[in-house]
Amino acid sequence: MSSTDPAPVPKAGIRRVAVIGAGYVGLPTAVVLSHRGHVVTIAEHDETKFDMLCRGRSPIVEQGLEKMLEDGISSGRLRIVRDAAEAVADAEFVFLCVETPQSESGSADLSHLAAAADSVSGHLARGAIIVNKSTVPLGTVGLVERVIGRSDVAVVSNPEFLREGSAVADSLNPERIVVGSSDRAAAVRVADLFGDSDAPVVITDARTSELIKYASNAFLATKLTFINTMASLCERVGADSVDLVHGIGYDKRIGFEFLRPGPGWGGSCLPKDTSALVSIAKSAGFDIEIVRAAIAGNEEQMNRVVEKIRVAAGGTLDGMTIGVLGLSFKAKTDDRRNSPAIWISLRLVEHGATVRAFDPTVSLGDASATDLSHLEIFGDPYEAMRSTHVIALLTEWPEFEQLDFARVREGVANAAIVDARNLLEPVSLRHLGFTYTGIGRQ
Ligand code: UGA
Repeated sequence: MSSTDPAPVPKAGIRRVAVIGAGYVGLPTAVVLSHRGHVVTIAEHDETKFDMLCRGRSPIVEQGLEKMLEDGISSGRLRIVRDAAEAVADAEFVFLCVETPQSESGSADLSHLAAAADSVSGHLARGAIIVNKSTVPLGTVGLVERVIGRSDVAVVSNPEFLREGSAVADSLNPERIVVGSSDRAAAVRVADLFGDSDAPVVITDARTSELIKYASNAFLATKLTFINTMASLCERVGADSVDLVHGIGYDKRIGFEFLRPGPGWGGSCLPKDTSALVSIAKSAGFDIEIVRAAIAGNEEQMNRVVEKIRVAAGGTLDGMTIGVLGLSFKAKTDDRRNSPAIWISLRLVEHGATVRAFDPTVSLGDASATDLSHLEIFGDPYEAMRSTHVIALLTEWPEFEQLDFARVREGVANAAIVDARNLLEPVSLRHLGFTYTGIGRQ
């Protein structure tokens, strides 16, 4: 049964909620539910994260999250425990927000989810509702039902659509709420948790709900590969990608959102979910060629940026020093998982370059992290750019626009900038003597 009509949701009553896992999805979900008035217990077994949370500190960089966490704790509506079994003891709703990393085959690895379900099954209150927030393959609601093995407990799918960097705002003002279950009453009760939001509610079966999440991310990834491909075409035919985006974006059917050309798309979701969708389709005997093309086009885009840097360096990367601005997969987050900036930096190193990198969320203390071990990390952008042959701007941190490029110019070995986010102003940089290369820009 399915309905796209806004559900007649009454003002939400106060509910007891447990959230298992305080990661990029779990923590915003928990603090926003407590902000909505519900009584929430978060279970986080990682000692470092647990200690930080108890002190009202957010383990992730996310605007507004720490303030809301502190408010939740001081209001008494938000509690943090280590043990999932303790968190669920009196909960009416249990959100599973654990990691579903990509396995070798490209499909999602459900071992954390199954372990979380197993650890709570014997401790759930009668009639509790389990909510799968993690992005999971089709049929996972059924898997969790089997692991839980209790007829009094309903399991529903409620995919999350928040973006890192605006997680709190997205959770407070969702564009839609999707809930899928064979138990419609349970699905409606989950939608009621967000009852004070104006978002339309889509209630459907569990598989469709699970597929909605993959289809959303695959659509976004395909849109990005499309615009990155158009930007490359602009370079070949002497057109301008910035004006092109304006020219097509005013068409409401196309829109401006997700239309900024860049170094390729990354993060913990789009790459993983597109691969998982290809794998889901393959298991159904279907070759989802358009999504495979989006994935292949994304790798091409990252390679194109490496090539632009090689050309800007005078034809070789061997022995060159490249100053990299930005390492997170996008601005306003410290997340570097599947970051195009890291991917590109490591290719530069493989080609014999030295990479001096700065990111506002990376401190000198982080330099030993595995993904950074081949890079030279600096705590100051001017220092990172000193004596470089090319500056590569790879993440669109707004503070990079404010840098004093006249000062930068004095310290570099060669004045060349590759702006993989089209963030900077080419005219003024050229005026300062830099060669400027953007993405699809004249
Ligand atoms: C994505 C989706 O946007 C969310 O709706 C979804 O909930 C989330 O995945 C998830 O599955 O949990 P997120 O991974 O936070 O969110 O990142 P996005 O904002 O989607 O950005 C993804 C990549 O696309 C980044 O590398 C970003 O720099 C790039 N991008 C985005 C562009 O290059 N251009 C754009 O115009 C937009």
